[in-house]
Amino acid sequence: MRRLEEGGVDLSKGYPERPSKDVPIFLDEGLAIRDDDYPYIERGKNADPEKKALFGAAKEVIHLTKHIGTEIVGLQLADLTDQQKDELALLVAERAVVFFREQKLSPKQQLELGDYWGRVEKHPKQIQVPGFPGVTTVWWEYRLKSNGKSTVTFKNSGYGSWDSNKFSGISTFHTDLVHEKQPAGLTHLHLDEIPDHGGDTVWASGYAAYDKLSEEFKKFLDGKKGVFVSAHKYLDRNDPFAGPKRIERVHPIVRTHPATGWKALFVNRELTKKILGVSPVESDIILSYLFDVYEKNADIQVRFKWGPTKPGYGVSAIWDNRISQHRIIYDHEESVPRHGTRVTSLAELPFFDEDSPSQREALGLPLDE
Ligand SMILES: [Fe+2]
Repeated sequence: MRRLEEGGVDLSKGYPERPSKDVPIFLDEGLAIRDDDYPYIERGKNADPEKKALFGAAKEVIHLTKHIGTEIVGLQLADLTDQQKDELALLVAERAVVFFREQKLSPKQQLELGDYWGRVEKHPKQIQVPGFPGVTTVWWEYRLKSNGKSTVTFKNSGYGSWDSNKFSGISTFHTDLVHEKQPAGLTHLHLDEIPDHGGDTVWASGYAAYDKLSEEFKKFLDGKKGVFVSAHKYLDRNDPFAGPKRIERVHPIVRTHPATGWKALFVNRELTKKILGVSPVESDIILSYLFDVYEKNADIQVRFKWGPTKPGYGVSAIWDNRISQHRIIYDHEESVPRHGTRVTSLAELPFFDEDSPSQREALGLPLDE
């Protein structure tokens, strides 16, 4: 709580805060949120490809794997210039996730950074930092215990024994906020309470997942669309006995990133429900394979250990949801606290440009079968 108090957050009415006004109950209300078209400025698009302002100021730039994940050492996110923020947006678009350790960052500064990169998502249901809508509280222990009982155990916390009906959203690979009309671009998770060990996060690259496919299969998927759903459920007022339903949106399953111009595979096990234009059986089989490509290829993933960090400092991960998936490794089993705040900047209406290259094509790497 020290970071929140130092950051000027009023905790007198308790913590965390739940959005109290206009919480949508019905599906149509949920769907109406941000259903407008709004302009999006891609900050990474015109940034210096060499990122001289960002890299020049950093003490060290460490690529954690070949395909995904970079750590920047010696910079404070709160102090970045606009030029450095643009270059960081491009770096995240290229590397999928970028890490900064030992950050002094208030919720207000985190929100301002998110505002720069896009329209900050203000969730109608998620717990948040009091007085700062858009700064979501990430606190699994609270989420699991606040309803009186926890359903997460050692046996069911992992993907291998995941049951989507009983344990929705626990430790599965996913991409954030894909049910939005203009889904999530950058998400910035800042952890200020980190277990000594456990609670790592894994990200996987959507560019590399796409490049794992054969050239023929890529051609088949290019231009196809899929149905994406929300993590939260709402009631259908026209079908009251159907029980809570998820919001659905249609997006391309291969999308072009506006900053890099590269194609990425845009599907995830938790929230992509079907591919349009093929039969339900075909859709299930294809999606299951595509999820596996993301999840089983360790060479296109990075696993990040958040801690340790100095007292009073936190660790930031900024990732691009348009070109990646992530999951928590839930091995800390609630025994130790893990707490942080998250700000998500929504991006463009997803598009597929048939002329855009894959990452390997753009970088001149071999595409041999
Ligand atoms: Fe997530």
